[in-house]
Amino acid sequence: MPYHSVGGRSPHPVIRLLDPARSRVVLVTPSLRAQQVRSLELPGRRIRVATLMEADYQAWLEVRNRCRDWLVPWEPRSKGSPLPAEDHGSFVARCAMRERERQLGSGFGFGIFYEGRFVGEVTLSSILRGPFQNGSIGYWVDKDLAGLGIVPEAVVVVLRFAFETLRLHRIEVAIIPRNGASRRVAEKLALRNEGVALGFLEINGQWEDHVRYAMTSEEWAVRGAELIAAWID
Ligand SMILES: CC(C)(COP(=O)(O)OP(=O)(O)OC[C@H]1O[C@@H](n2cnc3c(N)ncnc32)[C@H](O)[C@@H]1OP(=O)(O)O)[C@@H](O)C(=O)NCCC(=O)NCCS
Repeated sequence: MPYHSVGGRSPHPVIRLLDPARSRVVLVTPSLRAQQVRSLELPGRRIRVATLMEADYQAWLEVRNRCRDWLVPWEPRSKGSPLPAEDHGSFVARCAMRERERQLGSGFGFGIFYEGRFVGEVTLSSILRGPFQNGSIGYWVDKDLAGLGIVPEAVVVVLRFAFETLRLHRIEVAIIPRNGASRRVAEKLALRNEGVALGFLEINGQWEDHVRYAMTSEEWAVRGAELIAAWID
């Protein structure tokens, strides 16, 4: 069910979802709104990844405000479209959509928490089952905490979840070739470089080539213990 619109400035905004099967607008009830308890948390060594909820808004906004110029060049966005809304209602709507995706098994969005505070995000999205059994990982971290290995640790936590809990077959990380810092994450984890897909994703208004890094469950069976020992245990 695609996200349609978010309305209201009240602390309890109404979220409208378009239900294409029934051609009607569904009002999201409190049970579908941002959860007041985290629905999923996964531990790492220094970090934990956990579903975001309404109570994270101020911490998220503080990092987002400070890091906007650091993040925007790498974010999916079509040409001419505005930056994603950052108001409280939009954040709550996003948490609710993520919760819905989690319930459907189509995606898992996590905040990354380091020393107990919110420092970034990692997502496992575009999960397709059937003969594909595939998902994609995306991530970012607070610019003031870059270089500490926070994201590779978070990626290993999510890879473990994807292969050992969700039983997916292939996980991909697609990276713009000039994003050296992100490519280092894939290289540190020795994800397999599958080559460059031309004009693969629209990032910050431009169709950008991406290097496609991937790991399959067969590779995880061989390398998972080594990655867990190196990054989690
Ligand atoms: C890419 C990114 C997620 C890496 O996360 P991280 O937790 O810093 O990852 P690492 O600590 O393993 O560092 C990876 C590389 O970043 C580079 N780096 C280190 N410190 C840095 C800093 N202060 N500023 C920028 N880059 C830095 C180094 O090349 C490092 O590799 P090295 O450890 O071999 O020297 C992070 O730089 C980021 O959020 N960038 C902006 C958003 C983005 O690019 N997202 C990914 C889109 S595919």
